[in-house]
Amino acid sequence: MIDVVNMRFMGGGAGHGPSEEPIARQMEQMVKRQERGLIKHIGISNVTLAQTRVAREMADIVCVQNLYNLANRGDDEMIDELAKAGIAYVPFFPLGGFSPLQSDELAAVAQDVDASALQVALAWLLRRSPNILLIPGTSSVDHLRENVEAATLKLDADAMAALDKIGK
Ligand SMILES: NC(=O)c1ccc[n+]([C@@H]2O[C@H](COP(=O)([O-])OP(=O)(O)OC[C@H]3O[C@@H](n4cnc5c(N)ncnc54)[C@H](OP(=O)(O)O)[C@@H]3O)[C@@H](O)[C@H]2O)c1
Repeated sequence: MIDVVNMRFMGGGAGHGPSEEPIARQMEQMVKRQERGLIKHIGISNVTLAQTRVAREMADIVCVQNLYNLANRGDDEMIDELAKAGIAYVPFFPLGGFSPLQSDELAAVAQDVDASALQVALAWLLRRSPNILLIPGTSSVDHLRENVEAATLKLDADAMAALDKIGK
């Protein structure tokens, strides 16, 4: 049995993002596999808030994996709704993906807290909501260490307010 399988919807929205395509048929297949004991928990990926609600009516969803980071805040409402339901939100491209995040505001906060800009971007995500789980990608052991250290970085209210402005 596989612990968690994310059903990744193909979308078709901007930049391959989610679109309001029907998801019931694929969800039925996931539920069937769960009932057969092949999948322990079901997650979904690349979904809109409306699709998330449909999926939750059909199955217990344990996690949602969508594009979200300091500069891409389209899922703010979804994150809050999932947090209330105890469902994990796993942002993909947490550092911006192929073009890692950079901005003057981010650099200024990073200088203030004596950390790298990308460490601050990860620390902001962890502070953003308790249901956020991080999967930053890296091919570098040094970056991996930096990214793990970001979990201990403290951001005060002023730093959070300055960072919040980046994506709004
Ligand atoms: N469900 C989906 O549709 C979907 C879509 C995209 C991605 N994902 C998943 O989401 C996860 C993260 O995505 P991702 O890796 O593409 O994007 P990401 O984590 O936002 O960014 C990775 C990029 O940031 C760089 N980086 C990482 N740590 C760094 C550091 N400390 N300092 C400087 N640069 C740093 C990496 O380069 P280096 O290698 O040089 O560190 C790489 O170029 C992956 O597990 C991926 O499989 C899922």
